[in-house]
Amino acid sequence: MGARIVVNQMPPTPLRKVQNQSYRTALMSDLRPIEKFRHRHLLGIEGLSATDIVTLLDMAEDAIEVSRQIEKKRATLRGRTLINLFFEASTRTQSSFELAGKRLGADVMNMSVATSSVKKGETLIDTAVTLNAMRPDIIVVRHAQAGAVHLLAKKVDCAVVNAGDGAHEHPTQALLDALTIRRNKGRIEGLTVAICGDILHSRVARSNILLLATLGAHVRVVGPSTLMPVGIERMGAEVCRDIKSGLCDADIVMMLRLQRERMSGAYVPSSREYFRTFGLDAEKLRYAKQDALVMHPGPMNRGVEIDSGIADGPQSLIREQVEMGVAVRMAVLAALAEHLPNG
Ligand code: NCD
Repeated sequence: MGARIVVNQMPPTPLRKVQNQSYRTALMSDLRPIEKFRHRHLLGIEGLSATDIVTLLDMAEDAIEVSRQIEKKRATLRGRTLINLFFEASTRTQSSFELAGKRLGADVMNMSVATSSVKKGETLIDTAVTLNAMRPDIIVVRHAQAGAVHLLAKKVDCAVVNAGDGAHEHPTQALLDALTIRRNKGRIEGLTVAICGDILHSRVARSNILLLATLGAHVRVVGPSTLMPVGIERMGAEVCRDIKSGLCDADIVMMLRLQRERMSGAYVPSSREYFRTFGLDAEKLRYAKQDALVMHPGPMNRGVEIDSGIADGPQSLIREQVEMGVAVRMAVLAALAEHLPNG
C-alpha cells in the first residue's frame, strides 16, 4: 500500500519499478497514486479508512519533493479547471489550494464570497448550479455552515473538496497535521496528542480526532467546560478540563484559536484570564514530554492561546505545517484527479 510519483505512461508504473530512470527524472513526471483513491470527493475524514489516509500522506511526501525543486510544475491536472469557492475568510487554506492546483498544472479560479452577501440555502445551491455550468473539474469549498459542502457536492458533477464547513470538518488540515507529525515523530500510532482550546467551535479538532484515532493515536481534548462539546468522548477522545492533566506526557500539543466569530455569548471571562489558565507558555509546556512538539493550524492569537516565545521556539512545528499544507493539497487534488473523466 502507499503511493509514489510514477512516470506518465500507460499503465502507470510505481517509482520503485521504473527501470533506468533516476529518482530525479521521475520527479519531473505526474503525481499519481499507485492505489486508486476510492473517493470521488473529499468531504471529511469521516468515511476515510486508515489505508486511504496513508495513501494521501505517502503521496504528499512525494509532493514535498516536487515543491522543493526549482521546477515545481507537474502535468497531473493539465487542462483541468479548479475553482476555489470561499464563503469565509482564509489565508493559508485558500492560498495553498491555489498553489497546489497551479503546481499540478490546473487553471485555478479564486472566488471569495463575503459571508454577509450570501443568503443561505437556496443561494448556495444557485451558486453551485451556476458554477457547475462552467464545467469545472474540482471545486474547493469553505462555508460557515456545517453540511453546506456536502449539499453542494450533491448539486455538481465535479469533484468537491471540503476546505472547512462551519464547526464540522476540515479534512485537509487534519491530513497536513498528520503529515507534519509523522515526519517529525516517525509515526502516529501510540502517540499522545493533546488538542487544546476552543474544541466546541473547531472543525480542525473534529477532523483531527477522527484521523488520529483512525491511525491509532491517543487523543486528548483539553479546554474549559464552556468550550467542550457534549459527547465529544464518543468520538474517541479523552476529555481533560485542566491543562496540567491534559498535557501530561503529551508527545504533541496542538493549540486552537478561540473562534470568536462562531461565539454568540461569553465563553471565557477575558483573554487575559484565558491565557493564564489555558494559554500555552513555557511553564505549562513543561507538563508535556520533554521532546513534545507544538502545533497550531493558524491564524494564531499570540498572547491568548499561545505565547509568542513558544510559537517561534525550537519545539514549534507551526511553520512546517504551512509547507505541509501545500503538499497535502497537491496529494488530495492528484488523488481525486484519478476519478475525473479520462483521469
Ligand atoms: C482553521 C480553520 O479555518 O478552521 N484555520 C485554517 O484553516 N488554517 C482554524 C481557525 O480558523 O482557527
